[in-house]
Amino acid sequence: MTLAQEFPGTRVRVPGKINVFLEVGAAQDDGYHELATAFQAVSLIEDVVAMPSDDFTIEVVGSVDVSGVPQDDRNLAIRAARMLAAEAGYDGGVHLSIRKEVPVAGGMGGGSADAAGALVACDALWGIGSTQQQLHALAARLGADVPFALAGGTAIGMGRGDELSPALARGRFDWVLVPNDEGLSTPEVYRELDRRREAHRADIGPAPERPSVDPAVLQALRAGDPRMLAGAIRNDLQAATLSLRPDLAAVLEFGESAGALAGLVSGSGPTLAFLAEDPSHAEQLARELRRAGHDAITAYAPVPGARLV
Ligand code: C5P
Repeated sequence: MTLAQEFPGTRVRVPGKINVFLEVGAAQDDGYHELATAFQAVSLIEDVVAMPSDDFTIEVVGSVDVSGVPQDDRNLAIRAARMLAAEAGYDGGVHLSIRKEVPVAGGMGGGSADAAGALVACDALWGIGSTQQQLHALAARLGADVPFALAGGTAIGMGRGDELSPALARGRFDWVLVPNDEGLSTPEVYRELDRRREAHRADIGPAPERPSVDPAVLQALRAGDPRMLAGAIRNDLQAATLSLRPDLAAVLEFGESAGALAGLVSGSGPTLAFLAEDPSHAEQLARELRRAGHDAITAYAPVPGARLV
């Protein structure tokens, strides 16, 4: 019997993400903000294994601190599995075993990646055979970033971030990621952005009526040119994140003075992302950051979305 025959489960690898551009519009009636973003999937990978079970259970380990991850029904991956089962009329369960590389509550879509992984792994385990479209619809119900974790690569996200269209990107972009022990709540960061826009009307422009991705970002991605991208990256959530976590500003400045082409808060943070020239520049930058006492992980983008291995 081969190893593949002995293994009764399915295994999916799913990437984390960086928003290389994020423009946030006004809050809608449902509380979500309309946005325009450019995602790239990065080489920090969540490994999701689904094993046959009568119940829905989960265990989470990882190379990052996973102490904040709920290991019960609150976990988005379990909610994903339950949603797929309900949708498909499947009456069994699953045991999910997740190994995380993406920093937890860090603004890099780790929880969303786990949910996307659970959808693909359970779909295969249970022999459901959902179409990409069906999986995308479930993903969008689970969270704004879940569809991108399915898709991977480089994409533009509109609406809540879940209306995806692929974007052309050449070559690879090298990043150094600096996670932080204290996670941030995404809703809290959006609320802080709204508060700042209201309280500092004279200094901060109003929410754009129709958010759009700066064409310079698309051009830089198409050209595969990190210097060009460095001049175009932007994150509207950054000021709100730094207002909640002023300690991060010094780290951003340190990374930039240590030679990063640019630094930005990843998504709602608190993970910081520094763009490097190439792999060796990323390694050098990571060493400098570590010497200054920061955790630093090198990664590259883009990589594929959720896929069975
Ligand atoms: O969809 P997800 O659960 O990842 O979103 C988490 C929270 O982030 C939402 O509840 C909302 O407060 C905020 N959010 C938003 N606008 C978006 C995406 C997320 O306000 N487009």
